[in-house]
Amino acid sequence: MSGKALNIGDQFPNFTADTSVGQIDFYDWMQDSWAILFSHPADFTPVCTTELSRVAALVPEFQKRGVKPIALSCDTVASHKGWIEDIKSFGKLSSFDYPIIADDKRELALKFNMLDKDEINAEGIPLTCRAVFVVDEKKKLRLSILYPATTGRNFDEILRVIDSLQLTQTKSVATPADWKQGGKCMVLPTVKAEDIPKLFPDGIETIEVPSGKSYLRITPQP
Ligand code: BEZ
Repeated sequence: MSGKALNIGDQFPNFTADTSVGQIDFYDWMQDSWAILFSHPADFTPVCTTELSRVAALVPEFQKRGVKPIALSCDTVASHKGWIEDIKSFGKLSSFDYPIIADDKRELALKFNMLDKDEINAEGIPLTCRAVFVVDEKKKLRLSILYPATTGRNFDEILRVIDSLQLTQTKSVATPADWKQGGKCMVLPTVKAEDIPKLFPDGIETIEVPSGKSYLRITPQP
């Protein structure tokens, strides 16, 4: 039985788990930070090794944004500890500074719908897919993405989304296609014309379109 699908804005359920750094209570471990919980199919596999190595190298970037990474696969703590040495060697890393959850009983994989029925291990059991959950400091789910086992994730994109989420939660803007930190933003459609001078004192640019509707309103990043 799989769990209830989580939607953006849902409370992310708390859990306890064994990890490569001991047992954790997820909420206690997060404290007041955000978290990125990401699963991968299995230890000692090639794409997963590149991903966990990349996240280890990006730990300072996640820290700058107040986000704690935590990985998950359906392998044991002993397996994770052995694999971490390979990940460090592959990534030329002197340390590996985030936990890997040992979900060898597949409890969390089922609870959070992380299993990929197209990827079966040697025993005929589904592997975990490459799920990404970004959870904010109030423990609300802010982003969820599922990738297939054969496609490694782009963690620059995940940092980019976190930047957008953190910007748009305090400013009346949304970020356009391919936006990057510092790039132009779109004024939220819900902002009324009369509120523009107060919210955007430096003015905005409105792009004219055939419909005559004034919805393409551009501002420098606030
Ligand atoms: C990998 O990490 O390379 C991988 C794992 C499971 C299926 C396909 C690829």
